[in-house]
Amino acid sequence: MSNQLNIQLFLEQLSESISSNLFLKASLGNYQGNEKELKNIYVRRVKIKRVDMLSFNYRYKTRDIFKNLSIADGTDLIKNLISNDFKICTLFTTKKEVIIEHGKKGLISLRERETVSTSKPNLAHDKEKKRIIKPEGKTYLQELKVTDQEGNVFKNSQDKYRQINQYVEILSSLIKELPNAKLRKVVDMGSGKGYLTFALYDYLHNVLGVKADMVGVEFREDMVQLCNGIAEKSAFNQLRFKQGSIDSYNTDSIDLLIALHACDTATDDAIYKGIKANAELIVVAPCCHKQIRREIEKGKVRNDVSFLTKHGIFLERQAEMITDGMRALLLEYFGYKTKIFEFISDVHTPKNILVVGIKGEVSQQKKAEILSQLNDTKTYFGIGYHHLERLLKEEM
Ligand SMILES: C[S@@+](CC[C@H](N)C(=O)[O-])C[C@H]1O[C@@H](n2cnc3c(N)ncnc32)[C@H](O)[C@@H]1O
Repeated sequence: MSNQLNIQLFLEQLSESISSNLFLKASLGNYQGNEKELKNIYVRRVKIKRVDMLSFNYRYKTRDIFKNLSIADGTDLIKNLISNDFKICTLFTTKKEVIIEHGKKGLISLRERETVSTSKPNLAHDKEKKRIIKPEGKTYLQELKVTDQEGNVFKNSQDKYRQINQYVEILSSLIKELPNAKLRKVVDMGSGKGYLTFALYDYLHNVLGVKADMVGVEFREDMVQLCNGIAEKSAFNQLRFKQGSIDSYNTDSIDLLIALHACDTATDDAIYKGIKANAELIVVAPCCHKQIRREIEKGKVRNDVSFLTKHGIFLERQAEMITDGMRALLLEYFGYKTKIFEFISDVHTPKNILVVGIKGEVSQQKKAEILSQLNDTKTYFGIGYHHLERLLKEEM
């Protein structure tokens, strides 16, 4: 039989084993190509976002690289690999092994042997993580169209679901840093459709057993009505959404303040409310940074980084860093320990920075240093004012 025919027959066996759900794995060996340190490739079948795929594990001497491909593209790749640099490939199914091998004089042979495998085809993706917010039986996830009634996450809601979980995981570890703090009141400023508000409430009440009151503050009446309806259906009796602006929301008691992607200075308004209420934990994911950008543009100061900020994109990034850096300094002035980090990959959203303040102590000397740092920063970048600093002026 010709080499081409053997390759064709091998690929047919591969396709058949996949379609009849008998495929266990394939392994490619005896590599004779140019890639340094590549030894083998192992191929498994996986489900990613509910789509069947082939996962290729490229095994190098000191590392592994994974590539996931559709079944069709993966089959094409196997064809290419066994036609060229990999001189042997074994297909493992639940019933037999099929081996294709390059022999002497360039001949490619095909053979099979019967086996009875005790392994079962496994479609689970190794990287599928156990999520902190389980999708089953969650009225709010169903109402928000993240899952269906059975708890299956809709294909186009996978990113949202992942984001909800990552966010709750981060909050969960921050909350654990407050061992003595009592979380009696949580406020979510600019709660929008409430994805994260509901998930955090669910986690606090149903996982941690922390029976905190929770309020979502939101401009948009339609969102507030929607969310109050879902809270009622979910029997989340200590969760309420209130229509109004962040700056006019008044309460003395906030233990945990969150504001995720509240626009521009709305993030400052939220931090201000948290500081004023002496919140134990303040967590904000800033959105756009227009106020400081406008100040820098207005100030037109020439400094060592003017050669960078003459480019719009760098000015934008600079404004982001200065805005959030100054927010962190202001939190520190009021005794908060701060952290700034990415909370989700920038593949999902570029608005992926979290600014966190954890209530602590601060000395007078440290406060004086912070004031001088704030003033130096404003002078250096030609910034007339920072919105949060202006709000806090009377307290400083
Ligand atoms: C980008 S959405 C984010 C929603 C939600 N926090 C999330 O992460 O899914 C921002 C929300 O904040 C609301 N918002 C912005 N500024 C506000 C303000 N000053 N007062 C109240 N709500 C505000 C908007 O109406 C919008 O629903």
